[in-house]
Amino acid sequence: MTQDELKQAVARAARDYVADRLPVGAILGVGTGSTANFFIDEIAAIKGRLGGTVASSEVTARRLAGHGIRVLDLNDVDAMGIYVDGADEIDPGMSMIKGGGGALTREKIVAAVADTFVCICDASKRVPVMGRFPLPVEVIPMSSAHVARELAKLGGSPRLRDGFVTDNGNLILDVHGLSITDPVGLEDRINQIVGVVTNGLFARRGADVLLLAAPEGVLTFQR
Ligand code: 5RP
Repeated sequence: MTQDELKQAVARAARDYVADRLPVGAILGVGTGSTANFFIDEIAAIKGRLGGTVASSEVTARRLAGHGIRVLDLNDVDAMGIYVDGADEIDPGMSMIKGGGGALTREKIVAAVADTFVCICDASKRVPVMGRFPLPVEVIPMSSAHVARELAKLGGSPRLRDGFVTDNGNLILDVHGLSITDPVGLEDRINQIVGVVTNGLFARRGADVLLLAAPEGVLTFQR
């Protein structure tokens, strides 16, 4: 199977998961990225069941709206049953690296509101120890050099993402060369650096459910 066929398969499985478990009229959080895009295209078929969606990025909001799916402001939502999103890496403890698409801060905010985080990805994203994928860190523009120096002290090699500005008007430092054996500790440590908006480690709020597309089918893991 091609990578896109795997993404399509897991997107379909996530649509079925939502259709089976999210009460009619409830709110669905929707992530960002190529796998999330397949999921958005799939949920067009069940949009009548949804009370509305909350998007984790401007690009996701536009794709949802393009399908005629209602997009709500998070501040107008009291509760969200399920959040579905991809990941760049996920470890056996269901901690993730996210932010390859630069939407990490809004993703983390939307995920914080959701009862259940459903991660959708293909088997290549499941790793014993995270860090091969560079860890994205969103920073306030005037702080980027300071934050880069502090990240280097933690053993990483930060590189400014060239020509990229987040939906929040900030910059991304991609930190190479980390071996993340303590995801919660590192998430907390990086978030304490002045100038960091947030980092792409989703360890304090990891995935509750992982739908993993493998050639033999879509496998389900629970936290
Ligand atoms: C975007 C993300 C994505 O979920 C992550 O990058 C995975 O993307 P893809 O499904 O394209 O591999 O965190 O900020």
